[in-house]
Formats: sequence, C-alpha cells, structure tokens
Amino acid sequence: MDTLCTESVEEAAAVIQRGGLCAFPTETVYGLGANVFDKMAVRKIFEAKGRPPDNPLIVHVANKEQIEQVVSRPNEAALRLIKRFFPGPLTVVLEKSESVPESVTAGLKTVGIRMPDHELARQLIVAAGPLVAPSANLSGRPSPTTVSAVLEDLGGRIDCVLRGGPVRHGIESTVVDCTVERPLVLRSGAVTLEQLREVVPETDPSSPGEELSPKSPGLKHKHYSPRATVMIAGDTAFYWNPKESGYIGLKYPAEDFARVKLCESLQAYAASLYEFFRECDREGLSNVYCERVEEAGVGTALMDRIRRAAGH
Ligand code: TXA
Ligand code: MG
Repeated sequence: MDTLCTESVEEAAAVIQRGGLCAFPTETVYGLGANVFDKMAVRKIFEAKGRPPDNPLIVHVANKEQIEQVVSRPNEAALRLIKRFFPGPLTVVLEKSESVPESVTAGLKTVGIRMPDHELARQLIVAAGPLVAPSANLSGRPSPTTVSAVLEDLGGRIDCVLRGGPVRHGIESTVVDCTVERPLVLRSGAVTLEQLREVVPETDPSSPGEELSPKSPGLKHKHYSPRATVMIAGDTAFYWNPKESGYIGLKYPAEDFARVKLCESLQAYAASLYEFFRECDREGLSNVYCERVEEAGVGTALMDRIRRAAGH
C-alpha cells in the first residue's frame, strides 16, 4: 500500500471516513487514527502496529458532545480533571458507553478518553472523530515524535499521514483511572502527579505492582525500545564501548561517545528521548546511555520510559 502524506485535514478526514488509517500529530506524540465505531478499521490498527489484542486504545475527542458519545456519566473527580486538563496530555479512564465497541477497549467496560491540545488534531477529530489513536509506531518501538519516525515504522502499512511539525512534549499522555474511589495513575506522562494533585489531592501514584494489574493492560508489554541496548548512566561507573554508543542527558559525560545529546531541561530531555533512540538505531550504535534524573515532575515519566526501554 502507498502511504499518502498530506497537509490537508480534509484529505486525512476522508481517508478515515472511508475506513482507513491516518497518522496525525498531537502535542504528545504522533497517533494512528481510525473511526472508533468502525470495527474493521479498529482491527486494522492492531494489525498495522502488530499490537497485542489485549491492549486497549485511547479514544480522542474534540468537544463535550463527543465525550458524551463515548462515556457514561463521569464522576466528580473525573469532571474536575477534565475541566482543568482538557485539552491537554491527560487520558481519563471512565465507564464506556454502549456505542464503543469492545475491540477498542480490549473487552474492558471502561474507556480511556483524551482531548489533544493540537490544532491539526482538533480539526481532524471535529471532521472525522471521535478517533481511536495509539501511538503511531510498531508495537514495542519508541513512540514517533516526527513524520519521518512514523514513516520509518508504518510507511506502506497505513493509508495516510497528516503532516505536522515535531511534537511539543515527546512523551505520552498521563493515564488516570477514574472508575475507582481515588483516581489512580496507570501510566505517568506529560501531566505530572503534582499537577493532578492540585486539582484532586487524593490522586494515587502508579504503584510498582501495576504491571500485573488487569487494569493497565498496556504496561506489561515491552515498550519504547530501540534496537540498541538502553542503559541508565549512573548505575555503572564506566561505559562499555562509548565509541559505538550514544549518550543523552543534562550534563556532559566524562567519556567520548559516538553521539551525544545534551538537553537544557527535563522537558527538553523528555521531548528528545524517543528521537534520540531512533537516531542511534539509524547509525547502528550498540548502546544508548541515559542519564538518571530525579523522579519528580516530568522526571517521573521520563525515568519510567527509560526503565521500560532498558527492559527493567
Ligand atoms: O499521548 C498519548 O496518549 C498518545 C497520543 C497518540 O494520544 N497515545 C498513546 O496510546 O500513547 P497508546 O495506545 O500507545 O497507549 C495507550 C495506553 C496503554 O498503556 C493502554 O493500556 C492504556 O493507555 N489504556 C487505554 N485504555 C485503557 C483502559 N480502558 N483502561 C486502562 N488503560 C487503558
Ligand atoms: Mg504506544
């Protein structure tokens, strides 16, 4: 199949309305969009990504009417989170409405919804939505933050890519389960725990045992990994083979690496991580060293992704 690259929202929307798959930019990472209510299209998403069928998809909405289409009545905590963080990099898990097929939610009675804060995404969802949209990478690979990363993984496997520039956050949305008494973070992300607690103080952080919980099916699968071996700098006193390795972090490393990415802030580090993984793979490097950072603010999500990429 030829993958159409377009800057036209109308063209992209037409592809989705015909039951096709179209990747599009959001403020977090590129998503792979399809019509929520089209079971064939939803199945094609799992096939194109090689995604395990037990991993549910997030439904992307652009307005209140679309929220009401896909969830049954949100509770008080969910309403507060939605009011504060929509549009933005937060996914709220709620009881799904009848109209959402179980193939979207991998058999769960709940659905994750999110309203992207990105003009092209908004226009596409208004024209063709609500849309299911996992990250637009092959399952297990780093999420794409540029059009070329999307094409590297999915070129020839999907119908269309809606062109936008590089994304803003570069790390996925925070997923919060709002079907329990105290909201529970299932996946840390671009909205920090500290920010969530400003609105709902009793929000619980994700716990180390979360992988085993049937509530967060996505977490047990291998994730975000380049072909190079990812290692956490700070865990080792010396580096294997720096001449054939990459290094990303905030401070200059003591060794000479084949490729170094210095980031001026935690946000910049998070925004650069996945593309740096891909750059190291394009150059055939054997290892990627990632500087350890403090696990607060965005640092929580950043260290979560680095650890998963390292296979911990
Ligand atoms: O930033 C993002 O969230 C990006 C952009 C494209 O929106 N999307 C994204 O989707 O990261 P994906 O499919 O790569 O990750 C979705 C995560 C998985 O960990 C999945 O298990 C979880 O959300 N999830 C989705 N629906 C859920 C549900 N009903 N209950 C629990 N977890 C759910
Ligand atoms: Mg993903």
